[in-house]
Amino acid sequence: MENSSLQVEEITVRFGGLVALDRVSATFKEREVHGVIGPNGAGKTTLFNVVSGFVKADLGKLSFFGEEVSSHRPEKLSKYGVARTLQGLGLFARMSVLENVMIGLTSTGKTKNFGGMLGFGRPVKEERIFRERALSKLNELELGQYVDRMPPSLPYAIQKKVALARALVLEPRFLMLDEPASGLSNDEMDELGDLILKLSEKMGIVLVEHHMDLVMRVCDVITVLDFGRVIAEGTPDEIRSNPQVTEAYLGEEVNTH
Ligand SMILES: Nc1ncnc2c1ncn2[C@@H]1O[C@H](COP(=O)(O)OP(=O)(O)OP(=O)(O)O)[C@@H](O)[C@H]1O
Ligand SMILES: [Mg+2]
Repeated sequence: MENSSLQVEEITVRFGGLVALDRVSATFKEREVHGVIGPNGAGKTTLFNVVSGFVKADLGKLSFFGEEVSSHRPEKLSKYGVARTLQGLGLFARMSVLENVMIGLTSTGKTKNFGGMLGFGRPVKEERIFRERALSKLNELELGQYVDRMPPSLPYAIQKKVALARALVLEPRFLMLDEPASGLSNDEMDELGDLILKLSEKMGIVLVEHHMDLVMRVCDVITVLDFGRVIAEGTPDEIRSNPQVTEAYLGEEVNTH
């Protein structure tokens, strides 16, 4: 078992009679961008959710840096050094950008534990450290000017970046992104691509995405799912010229810029 990677082995997930994932295996390596693509309903988000702990696999196992687990809870993910963003934004509308990012530093990422962070129960010193770490991450992502704003008052692309800052504030070894490009303009998507490449110097990235231009540009490896099965894995060039992949996408509008 490799201890520098995140592995899924023979994962099977059934929803009633539907087999959403059928013995899916993949190895996500540190400092690699690993794309997960496939037509609508192929099982991409389900795979993402199994790794995140939101969905329990019926069969198969996960391994985080050599530590095997059959299932785990989402709250434990950060202990394994894995951070994720959700398909939606998941920001708290009535909290400032800074507070939203500070939440990324609490163990569960829920507001329930946040009261203490604002002064009661949690040591003031700890709160100051959280604040400084969140501020430094926001500055690093060039979001410093928005720290006191409420998310709904900001452009969508900025909100997405705030959600990313919240995932990154824990300095994860792996970052999992589910459709980070959805709703972005071409220029914003190019900027996201640059950011993903920069982040991959420090961490492994799992990228679930429909926008092929972005996937082909940034990924080192791509796993293709179709009807819950891995139908191909390879470099962007290998995937682009794989007839099985082309066939899986037939009848589906390929989402390019
Ligand atoms: N909680 C659930 N209960 C029942 N069926 C589900 C559930 N979640 C997903 N499915 C089904 O499992 C299959 C895989 O869904 P999944 O969301 O993983 O696909 P996806 O590849 O992420 O698709 P998309 O590109 O549309 O986001 C689909 O047929 C979906 O309808
Ligand atoms: Mg999905």
